[in-house]
Amino acid sequence: MPNQLRWSPFDLPTEPTDFVEGLHSIAGAGDVGVRHGMGVLIYAANKSMEDAAFYNSDGDFLIVPQQGRLDITTEFGKIMVHPNEICVIQRGIRFSVALPDGPSRGYICEVFNGTWTLPDLGPIGANGLANGRDFQTPVAAFIEEEKPFRIINKYGGRLFTAKQDHSPFNVVAWHGNYAPFKYNLALFNTINSVSFDHVDPSIFTVLTCKSERPGVAIADFVIFPPRWSVQENTFRPPYFHRNCMSEFMGLIHGTYEAKQGGFVPGGASLHSMMTPHGPDAPTFAKASAEELKPMYIAKGTQAFMFESSMQLQPTHWAIKESGKVQHDYFQAWQGLKSNFNPNWKPAQH
Ligand SMILES: [Fe+2]
Repeated sequence: MPNQLRWSPFDLPTEPTDFVEGLHSIAGAGDVGVRHGMGVLIYAANKSMEDAAFYNSDGDFLIVPQQGRLDITTEFGKIMVHPNEICVIQRGIRFSVALPDGPSRGYICEVFNGTWTLPDLGPIGANGLANGRDFQTPVAAFIEEEKPFRIINKYGGRLFTAKQDHSPFNVVAWHGNYAPFKYNLALFNTINSVSFDHVDPSIFTVLTCKSERPGVAIADFVIFPPRWSVQENTFRPPYFHRNCMSEFMGLIHGTYEAKQGGFVPGGASLHSMMTPHGPDAPTFAKASAEELKPMYIAKGTQAFMFESSMQLQPTHWAIKESGKVQHDYFQAWQGLKSNFNPNWKPAQH
């Protein structure tokens, strides 16, 4: 199995399929039984959940819609999530997903350990990146209905169903600090290099699930938002590298700046731990020759990464059954040539 994988956009269903029926595991590591690890899923659905609620005993969901708005009813109230917004629904919370826009698709990062929190800002200080003030929690909204209702539970990676005679969304009021929330990615306060070099993408962390070792997370949710690029005397795109973390990337909309072709909205890629990767050959050629004036990059684009210190293993569905693996992904780097010139001298400034 290659350690670099890229998938074409995952298919929207042709048969009636709701959010839970449209869930597929893509990759993961660890063990839900000992509450250590993380998983990556996609959902692809075309109908609303009817008289049914879902809850996850295995971990906390960070949901990233790529196509179609999600109207999510939770025990805490209602959350409307558009593409370019995200929401977090923690372990145990009952929720039901309606699809007002029809066929919908998106990505999910599930963490088994702790929960999704803001990263420590360190020298950035009190404010920056995703600001706490921009996260929204629902207000209570109850439905008092006595009718057959299914409660679907994900436990140990398997689904179980219980039946009851009333809606679970009957909470009239609540208080506390364990509640689902949403965030608009357009509100991210992007921080980056204004001198030289390409900064580690951890500077774009929106939310993290920390491990016991500082600096290496169970999972980071990182975005590559529209922003100014101003670095001088530098190769501006992501450098060629190996990583002590695993990198799962997706694209909500637009064109990712390090891959000019082949990585399209609704698709995904996985660069496994310590496997080399970097910009494709056309991106390298363009960035090596262009004048380094201030440029607004990633306009109309939102790529993201689920980055994990765990060694992610793709699932059988992702490799075999989805039919979406691009087996020619390695070709992205085949056009790169050695440019070493022992007589090269830097330009004088
Ligand atoms: Fe990387």
